[in-house]
Amino acid sequence: MKILIIGSGAREHALTWAISQNPRCTKIYCSPGNAGTTKLATNVDIDVTSNDQILEICLEYSIDMVVVGPEKQFEQGLTNALKEKNILVFGPTKEASQLETSKSFTKIMCKHKNIPTGNYEIFLKEGDAQKFLSAQPKPFVIKADGLAAGKGVLVSSDFEEGTQFISSIFDGKIGIEKNKVIIEEYLEGQEVSVFFAIDKNTIKYIGSAQDYKRAFDHDRGPNTGGMGAFSPSPLLTEKNLAKIVNEIIKPTVEYMRENVSDFSGILYAGLILNKGEPKLIEYNVRFGDPECQALCIRLGAQILDIYFSGAKNELSNLSINEADDSAITVIVAEKGYPKNPKSGCELNDIVNAKYDNGLKIFHAGTYFENTFLRNSGGRIFSFTARSTNLNKARGIVYKQLNKIENENIFYRTDIGSD
Ligand code: AMP
Ligand code: GLY
Repeated sequence: MKILIIGSGAREHALTWAISQNPRCTKIYCSPGNAGTTKLATNVDIDVTSNDQILEICLEYSIDMVVVGPEKQFEQGLTNALKEKNILVFGPTKEASQLETSKSFTKIMCKHKNIPTGNYEIFLKEGDAQKFLSAQPKPFVIKADGLAAGKGVLVSSDFEEGTQFISSIFDGKIGIEKNKVIIEEYLEGQEVSVFFAIDKNTIKYIGSAQDYKRAFDHDRGPNTGGMGAFSPSPLLTEKNLAKIVNEIIKPTVEYMRENVSDFSGILYAGLILNKGEPKLIEYNVRFGDPECQALCIRLGAQILDIYFSGAKNELSNLSINEADDSAITVIVAEKGYPKNPKSGCELNDIVNAKYDNGLKIFHAGTYFENTFLRNSGGRIFSFTARSTNLNKARGIVYKQLNKIENENIFYRTDIGSD
């Protein structure tokens, strides 16, 4: 089977690595890919915001299935376009991707279906939102609608900051939906991410993870795309998982069928365990980055089976075996990330160092300039390892990270520690 993988992050490098191990896979193309994926696949540099260019590549290289990493392509209707041409893809249509691309859509669904989530109000006028905020208890949770590249949510006890955030949304400075603000009840509790594969007939649990969004140790600093993750999450008990499936995932699938169109693809539920009860914070319609790296190293070649069975609506025949082990991934980022990442730093010393077997380095923003590996800004690598338990996996990764002497990078030192 010839596979095209869309995306350029460490998530897509990890997907490429896992899929390449499956005997069903004969050839992988990555668009655009990164320096890491060139070792396992052929990179094809096209404009991935164009469905037409992706379709052209599919025809030119006789692609059997497209695997999509980021949410953007679902929002642009790539699944719709591929299905029209009978090319296999496992991911939501443009309409069904609203579960991620519109927070107000998901909130309204939760109300209709009684899905446990924080109470909320949606505001279309700035004045109404500001007035409502002034009567709310702290901390405030304020969200922009639409994809906002990780900048769409403010959790803060500072009223001034809250009012400024609301103004920025209505000024069109955050998110693409500038006339809509959601103010939400703050939910206290620990966060867990749970991943499902869903097709027309079946909901399959894939695994769980916890991620770290702040830039610096002890959850300090600005929010990022994610600085590390581990899988599985010890917070996810069998009882909680049953509740999540019955009270959150099943009603979601029903709502989509009744009101939009069948949801098909990877569904990532971001949850808070509030007084022990799972409540939905957000949905993503794809694997998370960096959660995917920790999941891929545990699931290996099964990743392709999930995409392939899902694309053919045959998930009911698939058993997904979650290994009885743990994995961790720690992001190596450019100093200054996320506010002022510099690009173009030399990285050869990092990839050429001698590491112990068992460490996987997934590349994110990397490219070759002649023989020099450089970064194109932001997150650079995802150092990933698995072992019999989290502590051991953590030990492996940090022992290797200690070998890095490059002045241009940083990483968190507390991923996976209590
Ligand atoms: P989201 O993009 O909706 O996942 O929000 C980003 C982060 O903001 C989440 O991972 C949580 O840490 C935090 N957050 C979002 N909504 C709430 C809420 N209602 N209560 C507490 N924290 C929240
Ligand atoms: N790590 C969070 C995300 O991928 O959205």
